[in-house]
Amino acid sequence: MKKVKDFYFNKAKAKGFVARSAFKLEEIDQKNQILKPGMSVVDLGCFPGSWLQYISKRIGNEGIVVGVDMQELKLPLSANMKFFHSDINELDLAILKQIKPYFDLICSDMAPKTTGIKGTDADRSYHLCQMVLATCQKLLKYGGNTLIKVFQGAALEKLVQQMKIEYQIVKRIKPRSSRNESVEIFILGINKQKI
Ligand SMILES: C[S@@+](CC[C@H](N)C(=O)[O-])C[C@H]1O[C@@H](n2cnc3c(N)ncnc32)[C@H](O)[C@@H]1O
Repeated sequence: MKKVKDFYFNKAKAKGFVARSAFKLEEIDQKNQILKPGMSVVDLGCFPGSWLQYISKRIGNEGIVVGVDMQELKLPLSANMKFFHSDINELDLAILKQIKPYFDLICSDMAPKTTGIKGTDADRSYHLCQMVLATCQKLLKYGGNTLIKVFQGAALEKLVQQMKIEYQIVKRIKPRSSRNESVEIFILGINKQKI
C-alpha cells in the first residue's frame, strides 16, 4: 500500500500537482471524456487545488473553472480559474450565475470532517452530495454532467437511484489511484435530463 501512496505522491510532485487527487480525476476523464476545451466547470471542495490545476489545463484559455471551498486557497490562480471561499451550505449561487448562468460540468471532491464512525461519516458525506445535487439543479445546464465523491454506506444506493431520475446514465467509479482501503467512490451522472 505504501508503495502505491509513494507512487502517486511522487507522480503528483513530478507533474506539479498540489495533491495526488488529480490522478483520480485524470483517470475518470480519460475513460469518460468529461472535460473538453472551452468548457465551464464548477469544482466544489477544491482545496488544495489539484483538480483545479488539471481542469484548467484541459479546458484551456476559452474555458472557465470556478472552485469553491471552506478553506482559503493558496494556489496561484490562472486566467481561467476563479475561487470562492465558502461553505457549500452558504454558497451564494447568484454570484456564480454572474460568471455563467449554467455550467457544463459540476464536480465535487468534498469530504466531510470524519469521526471514525462509519455510519456518521457516510451520512455526512451523503448530506454534502445532496448539497451538490441541489447546486446542479440550479447551475448545471441540460445535457451537462456531474461527478460526485461519496463515502460508501447505507445511502449510496439511494443516491444512485436519485441520480438515475435526473441523468441519462449513472456510473459508479473507483479509480485505481483511490486507496483500496478508502470508502470513497465517485458517481458520474451523464447528460442531465429535463424532468
Ligand atoms: C479531498 S479535499 C479536495 C481535494 C481537491 N479536489 C484537490 O484536488 O486538491 C476535500 C475538500 O472538501 C472541502 N469541504 C468539505 N466540506 C465542505 C463544505 N461544506 N463546503 C465547502 N468545502 C467543503 C474541504 O475543505 C476539503 O478541502
